[in-house]
Amino acid sequence: MDKQITVNYACFDSIDELPESDRALVKLARESTANAYAPYSQFYVGAVAKLTNGYIAKGSNQENVSYPVCMCAEQTLVLGLVNELNAGNKIETIVVSYNTKNGQTDIPVSPCGKCRQFLFEFEVRQKQNIRVIMSGMSGEVHIVDSVADLLPFAFNSEF
Ligand code: THU
Repeated sequence: MDKQITVNYACFDSIDELPESDRALVKLARESTANAYAPYSQFYVGAVAKLTNGYIAKGSNQENVSYPVCMCAEQTLVLGLVNELNAGNKIETIVVSYNTKNGQTDIPVSPCGKCRQFLFEFEVRQKQNIRVIMSGMSGEVHIVDSVADLLPFAFNSEF
């Protein structure tokens, strides 16, 4: 029997269509690409998280000459939040954006597979979904309501 998994996401033509609170977060994620250290890939990723207490944090990818040591923006972001999360705050929304040297940044970035698994663990831990907003420096913005939407067939503790 064939079965299907459907992923719903909201698609906006630009940040102008977003509610003001989301628009501000996307702008911040775009600004945060300037904090990236990405001399090897020249792919500069910025990420922002908004917590349930209103706290807003920034992250960016930090590369290393030993390539496997590179850290994605989503990881630097969330690892920096551990104190706030331990204090009972939850991640409401994560925004990811990117910039490039060649200026092609209008396709919404899609978190890598490792980041999906990494973020999924935090979503499960906090027992509350994390909205993920994906964008570039311009163009469309895509939003999923949950990290789980980005990770069908997720490996989880049920196994
Ligand atoms: N990167 C991120 O920071 N987040 C993603 O979701 C996609 C990829 C980084 C890793 C590496 O530093 C560069 O982008 C190119 O892959």
